[in-house]
Amino acid sequence: MARILDGVAIAAEIKQEVAQQVKAMAARGLRPGLAAVLVGNVPASQIYVRSKVRSCEELGIYSDLITPPETVSTDEMLKLVDELNGRDEIDGILIQLPLPSQVDVKALLDAVAPAKDVDGFHPVNAGRLQAGRPALAPCTPAGVIEILKRSGIAMAGANAVVVGRSDIVGKPAAMLLLHQNATVTICHSKTRDLAAVTRQADILVAAIGRPGFITPDMVKPGATVIDVGINRIADRAQFDRFFRGNEKREAAFAKHGSVIVGDVHPAAFQVAGAYTPVPGGVGRLTIAMLMANTVQAARMRRGL
Ligand code: GUN
Repeated sequence: MARILDGVAIAAEIKQEVAQQVKAMAARGLRPGLAAVLVGNVPASQIYVRSKVRSCEELGIYSDLITPPETVSTDEMLKLVDELNGRDEIDGILIQLPLPSQVDVKALLDAVAPAKDVDGFHPVNAGRLQAGRPALAPCTPAGVIEILKRSGIAMAGANAVVVGRSDIVGKPAAMLLLHQNATVTICHSKTRDLAAVTRQADILVAAIGRPGFITPDMVKPGATVIDVGINRIADRAQFDRFFRGNEKREAAFAKHGSVIVGDVHPAAFQVAGAYTPVPGGVGRLTIAMLMANTVQAARMRRGL
């Protein structure tokens, strides 16, 4: 039986450490602050942002939720970011993605002060990360590293294969694994004989954004499989492909009309030596790392 890497427990551990740091800052009369910007009415974004604000409250971090309308312009958003950059009680600025199509996302992310870029999306932080300087790293890949570290999975010398090359997950995950002395391969849609490459992986990170993309034949027996995907499936035929006969998932599908599946086919986990489940794996770390980044940004900005 493969070992399950419990994202819920690891996230709770990190949050507890962050709460301690917040307390230590409070003793010096300081309080970290996060501005969360949620545009429009995307249901998934509303759930995520609500959860981020709730985590701030739990840990003693000040938070300000700002909710511009769906019709907001790039100029209005730039003005908002400029204002947040200048507010001293705000240490971190989070702009929940995706944004409506009329907003120039790159211009906006570039406008966030790098010192307040708790998502780690600014090119300055991406550059610092790759140059091995202190940087705010993107939360999801930072969470992947925390799971591996805290589960005692050796990264030094391991063959790590990252499937997916996004700026938000794949690229920074590869860089962070490299900094842990893994031998890193990045795969993508043009990779030839993908399964032959992924089968070399001691650590396989799936960040493709396609439900159940990683099949059992793509996993080396005993490998550690980190599933970054969060895909909602509402189609019965697709459900059957992944979860036919799984009583718990059947019940969830009957109740909600949909279930969440990662980028790894559930059968592929059975080939692994250890894996992160979906839900309850990497996703849980993303918010914990956002909290950690907010405190880190606060400490750096205030010279602690
Ligand atoms: N949308 C999906 N994931 C993320 C994330 O990590 N940060 C932000 N800002 N938006 C997201």
